[in-house]
Amino acid sequence: MSGKAKPHQGKLLVLTPGLGAVATTFIAGVEAVRNGNGDPIGSLSQMQTIRIGPRSENNAPAIKDFADLAPLSDLCFAGWDVVGDDAYTAAKRAGVLESSMLEPMADFLHSIVPMKAAFDRTYVKRLEGTNVKPTKNKYELAQELRQDIRDKIKETGAARAVMVWCGSTEIYLQPTAVHQTIETFEAGLKANDEGISPSQLYAYAAIQEGIPYANGAPNLSADFPALEQLALQKGVPLAGKVFKTGQTFMKTVLAPAFKARMLGIRGWFSTNILGNRDGEILDDPDSFKAKEVTKSGALDCILQPELYPKLYGNLYHKVRINYYPPRGDDKEGWDNIDITGWLGYPMQVKVDFLCRDSVLAAPIVLDLALFLDLAGRAGLSGIQEWLSFYFKSPHVEVGHVQEHDLFIQHMRLKNRLRVLGGAEPITHLAEGIED
Ligand SMILES: NC(=O)c1ccc[n+]([C@@H]2O[C@H](COP(=O)([O-])OP(=O)(O)OC[C@H]3O[C@@H](n4cnc5c(N)ncnc54)[C@H](O)[C@@H]3O)[C@@H](O)[C@H]2O)c1
Repeated sequence: MSGKAKPHQGKLLVLTPGLGAVATTFIAGVEAVRNGNGDPIGSLSQMQTIRIGPRSENNAPAIKDFADLAPLSDLCFAGWDVVGDDAYTAAKRAGVLESSMLEPMADFLHSIVPMKAAFDRTYVKRLEGTNVKPTKNKYELAQELRQDIRDKIKETGAARAVMVWCGSTEIYLQPTAVHQTIETFEAGLKANDEGISPSQLYAYAAIQEGIPYANGAPNLSADFPALEQLALQKGVPLAGKVFKTGQTFMKTVLAPAFKARMLGIRGWFSTNILGNRDGEILDDPDSFKAKEVTKSGALDCILQPELYPKLYGNLYHKVRINYYPPRGDDKEGWDNIDITGWLGYPMQVKVDFLCRDSVLAAPIVLDLALFLDLAGRAGLSGIQEWLSFYFKSPHVEVGHVQEHDLFIQHMRLKNRLRVLGGAEPITHLAEGIED
């Protein structure tokens, strides 16, 4: 079911499992914007307009007004982390935002203290911490997370909540029999099934509490039949997975351009260096495997080598991520692209993106929180494919093909917003000023 969204009323609690670099950059960023100390650059929900009707009508309201999004002043925050540092200490440690930005809001950040995490080192090997719930069976842990959610909603006086996984990348897992139905999953929780990782416990807890859930990391979290069914049953929107920030963002811009011009591609070599905690965790081959799989799918989906074997049939695609501490959160991503033109003549394109990982990810967390809240108020449930724009490996229904092309994703996102706001989608079918 979907229609015009119910109006927002009261506070919106944004829950983040993981209070590390991305989550603290997001929270501190929202507070900086609220205090007039920065602009929400990179956020469509805050900065972008949306054209309604033909161009000749010149009607382009801000998305946030047109779609009736919750205002930033209504947001409040809570999270869980394996490390007990409050948001101020965690933001300082992450080293993304400068002290001059953090100091004026120190009291606000100190007040956000992570709840004890549901954590197991089997799933994130290079992480240790003491702010962890005592080991119990997974079902009991999930019930404790549900209680945490209810307690935080009460404590903050929030009217609604959303959850965005900003925790570390867990090891690569594939769905097994336990992930197939709600019943097998709940039996698996009680039996401590090893296929159920902590991020799945958070996703399950959120859905059970009727709270929209998005996964910002590459690991299996809510993208399997049991939780998809539960989300439909509980009327909860879901989205995932892996924030599309640096190199894959570039890839999903450039690949559609080469394809649109029917230029061939023989090889695409992508390598990254980064030195934050995320990089350290990805240095573990099992966590890297989860990331590698999600990073590799985009090119095949965009280029369709089966349709264009002469252009993309022999493409050699390689992705490397290397942990390099001196760079901290300032990632560098190189791409070397070997392309071919007229009569097969070779050319090269080089991209060197010196990005700031969490600066790119923070506005994505904000947009996802606001759009998922909107989806919930509009009665949308289950997988929200229109949010593919934000993800490296979009979570789609079984039988649907992932869409990776950033521009198609963008058009789809805006058309969904038009419909949610009660307007007609724009198809670009008419010619001239009326299209
Ligand atoms: N920054 C980006 O551009 C980007 C892009 C795509 C995906 N991601 C993903 O977003 C996630 C967060 O990235 P980050 O840079 O903030 O990493 P980070 O290491 O700074 O923060 C992750 C936090 O999660 C905590 N954590 C791990 N397991 C937990 C659990 N079970 N419960 C509660 N907390 C837990 C860790 O203690 C850590 O503080 C990572 O999975 C990363 O791969 C980031």
